[in-house]
Amino acid sequence: MMRGKFITLEGGEGVGKTTNLAFIKDYLQQHDIAVVVTREPGGTKLAEKIRHLLLDNNSEAISETAELLMMFAARAQHIKHVIEPALAHGHWVLCDRFTDATYAYQGGGRNMKISTITWLENLVQGSLRPDLTLLLDAPVDIGIARARERGAFDRFESEKISFFENVRRAYLLQAELYPGRIKLIKANQPLIDVQRSIVEVMRTLIGNCSVMPGNLK
Ligand code: TMP
Repeated sequence: MMRGKFITLEGGEGVGKTTNLAFIKDYLQQHDIAVVVTREPGGTKLAEKIRHLLLDNNSEAISETAELLMMFAARAQHIKHVIEPALAHGHWVLCDRFTDATYAYQGGGRNMKISTITWLENLVQGSLRPDLTLLLDAPVDIGIARARERGAFDRFESEKISFFENVRRAYLLQAELYPGRIKLIKANQPLIDVQRSIVEVMRTLIGNCSVMPGNLK
C-alpha cells in the first residue's frame, strides 16, 4: 500500500487557517484522496486534554519547559494513534499546526533553545516530517485584530504583540531553512488569491505522486 502524504498548515493567529484548512480538505477530496483532518496540540483524547491545559487562561503559570514538553507529549500520542496509522493506510493527513509551530511559539515566542526543540523533535518523531507545509503569513497587527474579533482569548492569544512578532519571525526563518518543504502563502490578500496560491502548491504535490489519484483536476 502506498504511504499517504503528510501536509501541515501553519501560521500566526488570525491568518485564516480554519477557512483554508476546509478548502484544502475539499480540494483533496475532489481529487479522490482520502484525507484525515486533525490538529495540534490535540487529535487524540489525551492530546485534546493536554491542549485544554495548554490553552486554559486560568491555570497556574505554566513553565516554558513544561509547555514545551506538553506540546511534544501531545504530539507523541497524536503520531502514534492518528498520524502514523493513517499514513500507513495510504490516507493523507492534513494537520492544523505541527512542529514548525513549536519552533515558532516555543522557540521564537518563548525563546527556548532551538537545539532542545530539535532533540525532542528527533525523539518524538523519528524520521517523520511533513511532506508539505503551507505557511500562511500576514503582518501581526492584521492577524491579531482578526483573532480578537472571535471573542475570549486563550493563554497564547493573550500574549503581547512582541511575542507574535517573534513567532512570525521564527516561522519565516523555518521557511527560509526548508524552502523545499515549506511554501509561504501571503495571507493578507483577498481569499480568492490565497486559495489560488494554495491550489498551485497542491497541484504540484498531487502531480508529483507516482500513483495519480482518479479524476485529476
Ligand atoms: P490554534 O491551533 O487553535 O491556533 O491554537 C493552538 C495554540 O497553540 C496556538 O496559539 C499556537 C500554540 N502552539 C504552540 O505554542 N506550540 C505548538 O507546537 C503548537 C502545535 C501550537
